[in-house]
Amino acid sequence: MIYADLVIANLKELITCSGPAPRVGPQMKEIGLVERAWVAGHQGKIVFVGPEKDFKEKVSPSEKAKFIDGTGLIALPGLVDCHTHLPFAGDRAYEFSLRLKGLTYQQLAAMGLGIQTTVQATRKISKEELKNLCLKRLKIMLLNGATTIESKSGYGLNLEDEIKQLEVIKELNFEQPVSLVSTFMGAHEIAPEFKNEPRAYIELLKKTIMPEIKKRDLAEFFDIFCEPTVFNLEQTRELAVEALHLGYKLKIHADEFEPIGGTKLAVDLGAHSVEHLIKVTPEGIEKLSHSRTAAVLLPGVSFFLMTDKKAPARELLDQGAIVALATDFNPGSSYLMSMLLVLQLGVFTLKMTVEEAINACTINGAYAIDRHLQVGSIEPGKDLDLLLCELPSYISLAYELGRNPIKIIIKKGRVVAKDGCLTGN
Ligand code: NIG
Ligand code: FE
Repeated sequence: MIYADLVIANLKELITCSGPAPRVGPQMKEIGLVERAWVAGHQGKIVFVGPEKDFKEKVSPSEKAKFIDGTGLIALPGLVDCHTHLPFAGDRAYEFSLRLKGLTYQQLAAMGLGIQTTVQATRKISKEELKNLCLKRLKIMLLNGATTIESKSGYGLNLEDEIKQLEVIKELNFEQPVSLVSTFMGAHEIAPEFKNEPRAYIELLKKTIMPEIKKRDLAEFFDIFCEPTVFNLEQTRELAVEALHLGYKLKIHADEFEPIGGTKLAVDLGAHSVEHLIKVTPEGIEKLSHSRTAAVLLPGVSFFLMTDKKAPARELLDQGAIVALATDFNPGSSYLMSMLLVLQLGVFTLKMTVEEAINACTINGAYAIDRHLQVGSIEPGKDLDLLLCELPSYISLAYELGRNPIKIIIKKGRVVAKDGCLTGN
């Protein structure tokens, strides 16, 4: 008999996303749909998925087991937001107003605004204040469907303030329901003190900050902003090689504004993912489609920067690249905290099918952060992270634009939110 302490009974539709992980090409059309499904969990893990008859034969719920009636509800895996810049202070609403008057994101950065503004604000606040800000944001992100979130530093750009951001992430991972994955992004921008001497900043990163963060076990991934005006291709290569040498897993922001070879470099170095890809070249697409490096697309950025240029999701999917979607939540290019909206933007702006967008927001997002064995699908052995939604069918996840249909959120087998409010579990 299978023991269970949580039973979700009689779901109208259950999207399991079970099967190959990551998914590519035609596999992206498969969402593992089970009708009238029962799910059981034990100690936070999924122990059973199937029809009522099998449940009755195989599962023995404990006396204190919690029952949730799924009648009329559709369920899908907790969404995975595999790219965010969560720990920052302040906002850039003023810059946004300047963009509305015609200035571009790059012009603002060249004027000394942009990321540098957020660096000044983030350096100023205390760790406790930063933690409170992040906690509030995580609640919003959870209520909008994300149960696992990757989170990058990169607004400190010195040892002390990078540690502050990464410690906030590490502590919050134990203090609230969302699972967090840490990325050290000291290579987000050249630190202001080194504005005219990038070489000195790169040496500081390599010799001091990167080894110290690793020694303190504060980050699993290392990420670099590869753009001609930030870290050029050679500098990106130098930092990436050092990161791998120190034991970090690798991510690269590439082809957001200028395609300078970051995608090819990421694939050649075996990066887990390459991010943005708004301007990825045909060669870059070809390279990705024969690789194990995930293409993380961030449709909120094109939308937020109000540009017609969008990542070529269709080409990437049709050629067999591993496509994931994420918010890129940050104060400059995507103040977006909703993975539900990202799923919809994938459909409405990148021409993805609903099934492709669901896989990109779940199992492939999990792959991009090396969590595809733990989360991203509803299969025995994995964490019981489930969203129960009031919708006529899963197609309406995209169709009912801008609405939050989530009724119950289960994280590691606990009901953490109900009817739009956290339960405190
Ligand atoms: O992913 N591209 C680099 N970083 C962010 C923007 C950060 C910011 O503007 O503060 C991004 O778009
Ligand atoms: Fe980013």
